[in-house]
Amino acid sequence: MFETLQTMPADAILGLIAEHRNDPRPEKIDLGVGVFRDAQGQTPILNSVKTAETRLLESQASKAYLGTAGAPEFNAAMQALTFADAVSGDRLVTIQTPGGSGSLRVAAGILLRARESVSVWVSEPTWANHVPLLGGAGLDLKPYPYYDTGNHVINVEAMIDALRAAPQGDVVLLHACCHNPSGIDPTEDEWRAIIDVIVERELLPFIDMAYQGFARGVDEDAFAIRELARRVPELIVCNSCSKNFGLYRDRVGSVSFLAADPATRDTVDSQVNNYVRTIYSMPPDHGAAVVGMILGDAELRAEWVGEVDAMRERLESMRVLLNDALIERNPARDFSHLVRANGMFCFLGVTPDEVRQLKQDYGVYMVDSSRINVAGITEQNVGYLADAIAAVVG
Ligand SMILES: Cc1ncc(COP(=O)(O)O)c(C=O)c1O
Repeated sequence: MFETLQTMPADAILGLIAEHRNDPRPEKIDLGVGVFRDAQGQTPILNSVKTAETRLLESQASKAYLGTAGAPEFNAAMQALTFADAVSGDRLVTIQTPGGSGSLRVAAGILLRARESVSVWVSEPTWANHVPLLGGAGLDLKPYPYYDTGNHVINVEAMIDALRAAPQGDVVLLHACCHNPSGIDPTEDEWRAIIDVIVERELLPFIDMAYQGFARGVDEDAFAIRELARRVPELIVCNSCSKNFGLYRDRVGSVSFLAADPATRDTVDSQVNNYVRTIYSMPPDHGAAVVGMILGDAELRAEWVGEVDAMRERLESMRVLLNDALIERNPARDFSHLVRANGMFCFLGVTPDEVRQLKQDYGVYMVDSSRINVAGITEQNVGYLADAIAAVVG
């Protein structure tokens, strides 16, 4: 059987991590891997998470099965965190999933249960794993223009034109905030114009929110979702708690479906739970129990919001630091998009050759597209990093 299989190419990011690990140069910098890092270069466990874990250890009395939808407290809390009061709860189904990736996979499965063939418009570019994950699940992916690489802005007009030409009923994948890989998000006015065309063309919004709290704030980052929920009959939201709760390896996420009316909501609910049973049966519990406890406890919740704010502020200040250091070294070259971007990622805006040179000559690691994770920058390494970039871009 297995002799028919062909070896797959190694994952580009995992390869980069290994190369960085094996690089003996002490000044090396990793801007590739997609996790938050603090000023000491660590990916810490949040204090709110530690407290909730301690309480759980003492209070949890059973590890018996929870069921296909996971924990009801977690689901209710995630629904509120996502939608607030934008829409009536009797039109919403929210279930716990294994991470944001699991939620995207469940959403894909439900779309394909609803319709035999589904076209999903995705931003050009989009998160590298959207394509194999959603395309591999059987969705037909089509690109819409998004990032203008030369000017480091969103080409909103081209995006809107493409959506206007999309057949009625097609699905459009949107990044709620912190667009991965570009970091450049629509303004509120741009969102309204995008939503107008979604309403006009009767497209189904499919929103990926992997970085709630990392752009402007926990509530502010749900702006597009809440605006859409007020204006469309149906939508899907995929949440990840990997980044904003730092629960990467615990695999915590949720998927929400907004249905046109409560009766359809009940049907979707039955389909989603039935579908989950046919794939992973039930989601992992621990991380979601932690999130449910944090969001359900006023004090822990306030501490968590403060911790998310601190992560966001660190990312913002590292962007400013790098831009300032580059202005000092090369005032003729505009890197101001670094500061306009949100979240962990943005494009540095250098060529693949320059990316290679940064790695070979300076031990600065990033993916070929020059997407960088600004969480890899510290006050200690920013001078060296800016020297390296300035030397390479000439
Ligand atoms: C845009 C986007 N969506 C979804 C995910 C999935 O996150 P996870 O499955 O780790 O929760 C990520 C993770 O990097 C992401 O960047």
